[in-house]
Amino acid sequence: MTAPLLDVSGLAAGYGDVGVLADVALEVRAGDIVALIGSNGAGKSTLLRTLSGLLTPSAGHVRLDGAPVGAASARELVGRGLVHVPEGRRLFAGLSVADNLRLGAYARRDGRAAIARDIARMYELFPRLAERRGQDASTLSGGEQQMCAIARGLMAQPRLLMIDELSLGLAPNIVEDLVETLRRVNGDGLSLLLVEQDVVTALELSGRAYVLDRGRIVLGGPSAVLARDPAVRKAYLGDLTGAPA
Ligand SMILES: Nc1ncnc2c1ncn2[C@@H]1O[C@H](COP(=O)(O)OP(=O)(O)OP(=O)(O)O)[C@@H](O)[C@H]1O
Ligand SMILES: [Mg+2]
Repeated sequence: MTAPLLDVSGLAAGYGDVGVLADVALEVRAGDIVALIGSNGAGKSTLLRTLSGLLTPSAGHVRLDGAPVGAASARELVGRGLVHVPEGRRLFAGLSVADNLRLGAYARRDGRAAIARDIARMYELFPRLAERRGQDASTLSGGEQQMCAIARGLMAQPRLLMIDELSLGLAPNIVEDLVETLRRVNGDGLSLLLVEQDVVTALELSGRAYVLDRGRIVLGGPSAVLARDPAVRKAYLGDLTGAPA
């Protein structure tokens, strides 16, 4: 069997002396959509930051295509296809949508024509961005900002795109559009690791999921199985009986 695209074992990380993650193991295979769920403060964002090289792990291994990531910087990891769309979207304020997309391609070496072609592809995937290509990104609506952040991430030509809080603060119809678009890009071969507050959406969109609780992975498996798990239903789906619907 080929090595997973992303393979994490024994991972520990935190801030200064404060440990947040302990003994985290997970994998994402090529073509997978994997969801990471867990309560506020469980360490989901910390895990994505560690995987994308923004935080240095204190223990454990991360492998991309079987090759150790070691102490690679965030920039090197982008070059190797691991791209992170952070919580809060963090677009470049004062720059247009088009410029934000161009900056997403900063680590690429394949020239202007290829980048222009991919920007056109982003406008096809996200027609609302096409209409607003000249607009200051900080004046976009919340949903448009999320589209712009995801499109900027895609401009780096990731093989694995990690999105933190896909649907936070967005109207259901916008979330549906985003989910549809992510299914499309996944169909084109992109793997996804999603942190998602809305557990119903997370388990519907993903093929596999992990539950992070106080810095540890406490459950993992096929999303359809997790969706029927009484403990998951009770903790994250507001199911008081614990019985499948
Ligand atoms: N920059 C930081 N410095 C110190 N502690 C931090 C920092 N960022 C996060 N933490 C702490 O790490 C723990 C995990 O936070 P993290 O943001 O990873 O959780 P999360 O699962 O993403 O939560 P949420 O669902 O609220 O986004 C929390 O206790 C938080 O206070
Ligand atoms: Mg978070």
